[in-house]
Amino acid sequence: MVTIKSPEHIESMRIAGKILARTLELIEKAARPGVSTAELDRLAYDFIVKENKAIPSFLNYDGYPATLCTSIDDEIVHGIPSEKRILQEGQLLKIDCGVGWKGYHTDAARTVPIGKVSEEKLRLAQVCKESFFEGIKVLRNGERLGTLGEAIQTYAEARGYGVVRALIGHGIGETVHEEPDVPNYGKAGRGMRVFTGMTLAIEPMINLGSYHIRQSDDGWTISTADGLCSAHYENTVVITDDGVEILTLLQED
Ligand code: MF3
Ligand code: CO
Repeated sequence: MVTIKSPEHIESMRIAGKILARTLELIEKAARPGVSTAELDRLAYDFIVKENKAIPSFLNYDGYPATLCTSIDDEIVHGIPSEKRILQEGQLLKIDCGVGWKGYHTDAARTVPIGKVSEEKLRLAQVCKESFFEGIKVLRNGERLGTLGEAIQTYAEARGYGVVRALIGHGIGETVHEEPDVPNYGKAGRGMRVFTGMTLAIEPMINLGSYHIRQSDDGWTISTADGLCSAHYENTVVITDDGVEILTLLQED
């Protein structure tokens, strides 16, 4: 079921989203060569739970064991933080996190260069972020999700990247994943219509190579099939009469 959130519920998501945006900012700053992804996870947990009295939405979700997903280079999403994964210069790290407030959740992800990173990887991360903003330009009350998907897909593919098909954005609110599905590909004018008050996590994942994915042995991590680098950028938004409000960005972003 696709739900329209009440102003009160959207306000809870606004609060959750601000805490999430600050968490991602904190983790981005801490992510440098020599730091383990488990350390980043502890930082995020402490900030969300101890400093903000909020909920780490991913922890125990479907049995997921951490606050963050930390995915490196060819890993697209759902990498599990580990003491053994020490960040190294030149890597592209994707951090994905969820925060809940008064029963309502938000979800967002950033791609972070570790130390000095190749132009090729930086460009991939940049285009991924831009594809999100290209996509949301076309979204407003009454628009169809295919229009969003086509805008994201066209932007990324025109620049030579593969747009991941097997993983998609989603509705969000009382749980992290709700209806509707929000693909990063599609045909303008097709798909479900969105309306004011719907809350969506929009999350392009784009690859240097092909869009095909591979599931890894830990049961969570999803990587590119060809081993080439991937980027991810995600925000939770609420549909408005004339566009969207992004709930997981800081004012200064
Ligand atoms: N942002 C992730 C997604 O939409 C959320 C993962 S929740 C987890 O798939 F528990 F699986 F990490
Ligand atoms: Co998501």
